[in-house]
Amino acid sequence: MLRSVILAASRSARVERLVETAPFTRGAVRRFVAGTTTDDALRVSGELTADGMAVSLDHLGEDTVTPEQAGAVRAEYVTLLGALAAAGYTPAAEVSVKLSALGQRFDEQVAYDHARAICAAAAEAGTTVTLDMEDHTTTDSTLDILAKLRGDFPGTGAVLQAYLRRTEADCRDLATAGSRVRLCKGAYKEPESVAYQSGLEVDRSYVRCMNVLLAGGGYPMLATHDPRLIAIAEDRAHWFDRGAGEFEFQLLYGVRPEEQARLRDEGYTVRVYVPYGDDWYGYLMRRLAERPANLAFFARALTSRR
Ligand code: FDA
Repeated sequence: MLRSVILAASRSARVERLVETAPFTRGAVRRFVAGTTTDDALRVSGELTADGMAVSLDHLGEDTVTPEQAGAVRAEYVTLLGALAAAGYTPAAEVSVKLSALGQRFDEQVAYDHARAICAAAAEAGTTVTLDMEDHTTTDSTLDILAKLRGDFPGTGAVLQAYLRRTEADCRDLATAGSRVRLCKGAYKEPESVAYQSGLEVDRSYVRCMNVLLAGGGYPMLATHDPRLIAIAEDRAHWFDRGAGEFEFQLLYGVRPEEQARLRDEGYTVRVYVPYGDDWYGYLMRRLAERPANLAFFARALTSRR
């Protein structure tokens, strides 16, 4: 119920204005978002890579509606990738890209062309791109674009969401040699016709999908903060004889940092997903929807004014 209310607020322009203009939301935003500029992204990438973490940077923004906006998003990624390479942070640092920020909703070809240019810049910088997955109406289009990109840039990563009923089959399709696949639970509000609704069903699906990916020939990227799923992943990785360099854990910036450090200390590859940019509202609201404690943290920041 609370999750639905917050996800609804994530699409409300009125709530967005309220939250964005409140100066005291800054502290709460800073916990989950690296900052607003390319320099902020570089600074946090430097800190994390020095700390033994891998990084995936996400320039915040989604649902771009004009070709100009889409072009600006592409330009930002190209600039970022050049800067990451110049700073020596690649290949530990890669980028995550939302196709909707590149124009997918108004012209798939435009989104593909921009994504291709970003993949080329990543290859030049010696690193990779992962295509974030958005709501289920975009899944087919995103997987089509992924397949085309992989023709020239085979390291391009996919994201699959365990809450979708189709995902186990998608995992089978994508668990092939060289295929990088991030498995997450899924962050959008989806109807019962396409998605499991209970947490237990989603968790079970996650485990089935994880088994498929770990048993297959690709490179699984297990994105979750869930202690139970992380423990199962550690167990299954041994079972499927996957060494530390043959899969990775991924967690979000600011979420369970002590667990990120523990996994790193155990010798696993840990990639921290680092969002940055002005357009942090939708991202922040999805994080709040996931966990009541995050909401309490946010409320404290709202009232403490520090
Ligand atoms: P969930 O939110 O169910 O949390 C399970 C448990 O984890 C909690 O009960 C608690 O024990 C622990 N936990 C979670 N948050 C905590 C916190 N702040 N502090 C302490 N404990 C906490 N989604 C999507 O739709 N498309 C995408 O492309 C991506 N990409 C992506 C990349 C990466 C690297 C990650 C980690 C996640 C995504 N997601 C995503 C988001 C994902 O779908 C999902 O919404 C969140 O990861 C939350 O799901 P969890 O698996 O963490 O479990």
